[in-house]
Amino acid sequence: MENKAIYPGSFDPITNGHVDIIRRGLKIFDRILVAVLENPKKGPLLTTKERVDMIGKIFKDQEKVEVKSFHGLLVEFARENGTNTVIRGLRAISDFEYEFQMALMNRKLSPEMETLYMMPSLEFSFLSSNLVKEVFMLGGSVRDFVPGPVETKLGKKFGTKKRVQIQQKAGKNAGYL
Ligand code: PNS
Repeated sequence: MENKAIYPGSFDPITNGHVDIIRRGLKIFDRILVAVLENPKKGPLLTTKERVDMIGKIFKDQEKVEVKSFHGLLVEFARENGTNTVIRGLRAISDFEYEFQMALMNRKLSPEMETLYMMPSLEFSFLSSNLVKEVFMLGGSVRDFVPGPVETKLGKKFGTKKRVQIQQKAGKNAGYL
């Protein structure tokens, strides 16, 4: 039987840290389903379709990686897609409490569900999508933090002028964290 895991997240946007976790996961699993949460209420920077397309582009030569969007309960989506194993990255102790709660809630909802935590490479341990968004929207370079297609997409969607306008509209204390 195929050994498949699901890697869920918001991926707004996918970072080099997420890519690192997927590559590590591929050493253990035959197939990884990257599950992009549809979260319009969180006001994502990129639409669900853009996030899915971008991940598809990054892994276009890797047939073991599949990308889909989902809404509703993760455990149900995982079951519908034939897996009981969730992969999540764990960067620091600060991630632990949220992850612990989520893993135990998922186990309660679906006792056969297991969550496997993987540590990203040290160089990505400080990275988060929220920080990337903040740096980008304040005009900083995100080249070292995200795959090429993400940098290109962000640049096309939010030119410098648009970023300044969004910042001004949100007020000088606006943050993306
Ligand atoms: O990248 P994120 O935002 O930390 O990912 C969070 C995600 C998508 C894994 C989590 O919000 C999730 O699984 N949402 C689906 C809803 C759900 O199943 N909730 C109950 C279990 S916590």
